[in-house]
Formats: sequence, structure tokens, C-alpha cells
Amino acid sequence: MTGAYKATSAGWHLAIESIPLEHTVTLRVLIVDDEVSVRKVMAAVLAQVGLPCETAASGDEALRVLETNRIDAVISDLQMPGMSGMELLAKVRQIYPRMVFLVVTGVDDIRVGIEAMRQGADDYLVKPLQVDANIVLASLTRALHVKRLEQEVENYRHHLEEIVAEQTQQLREALRQIERSYDHTLEVLGAAIDLRDSPTAGHSRRVFLYSIEIAKAMGGLESQMRNIAMGAWLHDIGKLAIPDAILLKPGPLTDEERAIMQRHAQIGYDLVKGIPFLADAAEIIFAHHERCDGSGYPRGLKAGEIPAGASIFAVADTFDAMTSDRPYRRALPFQASREVIERGAGKQYDSQVAKVFLSIPGETWEVIRRETAAIQAHAFATASDIQALSTLVKSEG
Ligand SMILES: [Fe+2]
Repeated sequence: MTGAYKATSAGWHLAIESIPLEHTVTLRVLIVDDEVSVRKVMAAVLAQVGLPCETAASGDEALRVLETNRIDAVISDLQMPGMSGMELLAKVRQIYPRMVFLVVTGVDDIRVGIEAMRQGADDYLVKPLQVDANIVLASLTRALHVKRLEQEVENYRHHLEEIVAEQTQQLREALRQIERSYDHTLEVLGAAIDLRDSPTAGHSRRVFLYSIEIAKAMGGLESQMRNIAMGAWLHDIGKLAIPDAILLKPGPLTDEERAIMQRHAQIGYDLVKGIPFLADAAEIIFAHHERCDGSGYPRGLKAGEIPAGASIFAVADTFDAMTSDRPYRRALPFQASREVIERGAGKQYDSQVAKVFLSIPGETWEVIRRETAAIQAHAFATASDIQALSTLVKSEG
């Protein structure tokens, strides 16, 4: 958008070229001078070129006029009793940063005019002004043109900021969608693990929720919680490679079968480790059967070597195994299961994790178990069920 002054029968007007030319705004000028004769002459000069004027005899009066009138430009004397022209300039710049402000100096005070421009004046005029109205008009036109360019730059910058903000928002939404897609895929995968190992139906979901409860109570960071949740959710993904004859065998396993079964930790780790955002979860998968006293597998890690997420998972996993029915035994009561973990603290289980686990009320576990069972009762896990559960957990975290 560009602006220029057009001569019309009604005088000089500011024409805004991006809108129809007939849409013009009359330029209004405020003359500030303590000498009445100067004000009169100036008003007459500007009237010759069709510019309507307001006048003020002091800085204070000028500010009052500006409050109650639409003014586009101020032409002010510098030497005035009371508020000086420089003081008026400072106030006008503060209140009306876009106002055109010209100062008037005597022919001997050009340096003062230059100083006024350093302080924010748009131009300076030299007395006497009555000789040529066109000089005043040219100065006004130039100053208004500069103001308009400044406004355009500001509008452009503002527009750019809006575009950047909008695109940032779109990018965030796209990332959220990708993240949701990842979650969805993982959730379906976790559900598939549970379906494969039907005697422990709901196990992945329960240990996922139990692990998050313990991690929350331990003050886990959001990123850690997410890794623990993913590790817990996918901990038995390696079982997808274990033959049914072993995985679903109703009786005890032989030594050879147990060795094959125990390979699921390594297989799960190998499956997941190459996925960058699952790298930490892969470590939990690898170590989810390790025990603090070194009696676990596959590496026989000891306390301090086991990732924190795997230590949390170990307690959640044991607790769920004990409180679930198995083909060869009934589920243990919650209290009895808690006592087993209490006895194993510092031996099989990390003592700090066990302590935190024992501090969580039994009702918490019962609620998770009931809710998981309710989902199981309707159908086996569907992605949307788990999505809802996962969202619930995330919002609580
Ligand atoms: Fe396992």
C-alpha cells in the first residue's frame, strides 16, 4: 500500500492507493506557536493549499487538541513559554508514535532543528514560513510518506509473525498426529502380545498401569514416564517369536524349553532397539527379568546395573503375576502379594522401588485391576480402548 497527496477541488488529500482512489482522507494539521500572528500566518499558508488547521498557543493546549481531534501532523515552534517544543515532541512521540511532527526554528537555529530530528521530529522548517506554502507541504508529504512506509513495514512484520505462528501451530499439530500414530501402533502391538499369551490376558496393560503408578510416586519426569510406559507395555514383545508349544504349555517347562522361553528378553530387545524413540524402552525390555541379587536373566545384572525403569517394572510384573490366576494356581490376595515384595526388597527387588510401591494404597491397584477387567469383559484389547486408557494415564501424569 502506498500513500500520496492528490490535489482535488476540496484541497490536498491523502490518497490510499490500495483502496479506490475516491476514498481519500483529508489531512488535518495542528499548528502550535505561542505567537498569535505566527499561528494566523501559518493557518493562512496552509489554507492556500487546502489543508484545514487547528491551532494551539502552548504545548499543554496542543495535547488537549490532540485528545479531542483527529490530527495527522503537528507543526510546532520550539521556543515557547511553559512546555517547550522539544518537550511537546517527547510527549507526542510517547502517546502518538505514528504522528507526523515538524518543528519550526529560526534561521539561526538550524542546529536546534537537527537536534529535534535526532529526538524524533520528522523534519524542521525555517521561519519565516509564509514565503512558500509548497515547502511546508513538501515537508509534510515527505514525512507522511515515511510514516506510511514504516507502517507498511510494521504491518508486514506483523503479518510474517502471524504466518510463522500459524505454521508453527500446524507443525505442532502434525507432530502430535505422528506421535498419536506411534502410540496407536504401539498400543495395538501391546494388545497383540496379550492376545498371543491368552492365559495372562490383560497383563501388559496392567503392568503398564502399575509401572506408571510407581514411577509417578517416585517423581519420574514426563520423558522417563513415557519410556517406562512403553517398556512396560512392550516388555514381552519377544514372546511373539516363542513357539506356541512352549508359550502355551499348561505344565512346567523343561530346562531346554525354559531356555528358549527366556530368549524373549533378548529377542524383544533386538526387535525394538533400532527404533530411535524406543531406545530407552528397549533397555527396559532387555532387563525386565533381571533381579537385584543377580538371579535374573538374560545377563544376570545386579542392583545398580539394572535400568531404573526395569526395576520399577520388575515389582509391577511380580505383583501382577501373583495377583492373577494361573492354570496351576489361584491368584494370591493383594496383601499377601505385597508381603512377598516386602520380603524381596533389597534382594530380588530394588529396595527404593519396593518402598515406594508399598507406600501406595492397595485401593489404587484394585481400581486398575477392576478397570482393566471391565475392558477385558467386553472384548480383547482394541486400540481405541487402550488409547483411552493411555490418555487417562498421561493426563494424570
Ligand atoms: Fe517377560
